[in-house]
Order: sequence, then structure tokens, then C-alpha cells
Amino acid sequence: MNYFEPFNTYIDFDEFTYEPEGEVILRNLSNMDYMYQDQEAVNDKLSEDPVIYKFHTADIPEEEGHLRHVMSIIYPGKIGNEFYMTKGHYHEEEDTAEVYFTINGKGKLLMQSPDQDIKILEMKKGSVGYIPPYWAHRCINTGDEPLVFFGVYPGEAGHNYGIIEKKGMKKVVLEKEGEVIVEKNPNY
Ligand code: F6R
Ligand code: ZN
Repeated sequence: MNYFEPFNTYIDFDEFTYEPEGEVILRNLSNMDYMYQDQEAVNDKLSEDPVIYKFHTADIPEEEGHLRHVMSIIYPGKIGNEFYMTKGHYHEEEDTAEVYFTINGKGKLLMQSPDQDIKILEMKKGSVGYIPPYWAHRCINTGDEPLVFFGVYPGEAGHNYGIIEKKGMKKVVLEKEGEVIVEKNPNY
């Protein structure tokens, strides 16, 4: 049998580098412009096209038995009054879970069940958020530094962005009068 070789990855907790880098995916505003509420604010920022987040995925087979892992960095910022966030997804294999360990910054881990229940966990340095099977998950950076977390999920999980790309999630996270507030998504 050909056994997969063990390996280490090194995370620098100050610089947020990931070594080896793995596959690096950048998501700019133009990759998710339709996901923000304030389309005027989107249009104002599109020429600049800021990087909203990036993530490094270690080179591990997308197969049952393996544990894929990733370091994600969501930069601080807002589009209008809506905080920078990840696209969010369900897993393609819906009965697969995930763990998010926060390394830096603060934010919210917004989850939605297939019955449209919403749960929100606080993310802050040291929090280990458990995303049970079936729940969609999105992270929102509500702070003023990068929100950095390390995630681990089953190799076969895959990603299903479809429903969230079409409808968004039921709640949005905004800043109003200096406060972080969670509101019903008017477009949902
Ligand atoms: C993997 C996972 C994370 C996210 C990453 C980017 O299942 O949940 O690695 O993929 O934080 O977020 P999305 O995939 O929503 O763009
Ligand atoms: Zn996931």
C-alpha cells in the first residue's frame, strides 16, 4: 500500500503566514459583489476591488479518511455598513462537520440549518467553534484587525455555494452607530 506521507505546516501567529503555502485562494470584492446589501457602496469600491479574504488550503486529498485543513484571513473593512465576510457555504456532503480555531481578531461565525434556523458563535483568539453536520457557515470580521482562523474538515466534505450565492443567508451583520448588529436580510 502507498501510505500518504505525514507532514507539518507552520503558522506564524504574528505574520499569519502558512508554510508550506498550499493552495492560496484570494477573494476580491468583484468575486462576491452581489452578496453585499448596499450595491451603491459596492459600485464605489469596485474600481479598487479590495481583497476581502484569502485562505490557504494544505495539499491533502479530497477523500474520506483525510482531514483537510485551512488557514483563512478575513481582512477588516466594510462595504457600506456591512462587515467583510466570507461567501459562506454548505458542505456538498451535507453530513460533514468542521472546526474553526480562531488565531487572531474577532468576529462572528454565522450558521444556518437546512430548516433556516440561525446560530451565531463569537469568534475571538482561542475560540474553537464547532460547525455540526448540515449547517451552512460564514465568518464575519467585526473587528479592526485581520480575523484569522484555522479550520479542519473531512476530506470528502466538498463545498456547496449555490443556495447562498442565490439567496444569501437569513441574517446580515452590520455596524450601526458604532455597534455590531445582526439584522434580518431584507433580500432573503
Ligand atoms: C472549508 C471551510 C473554510 C472556508 C474558507 C473560505 O470547508 O469552511 O476553509 O472554505 O474560510 O470561506 P468560503 O469557502 O465560504 O469562501
Ligand atoms: Zn466549510
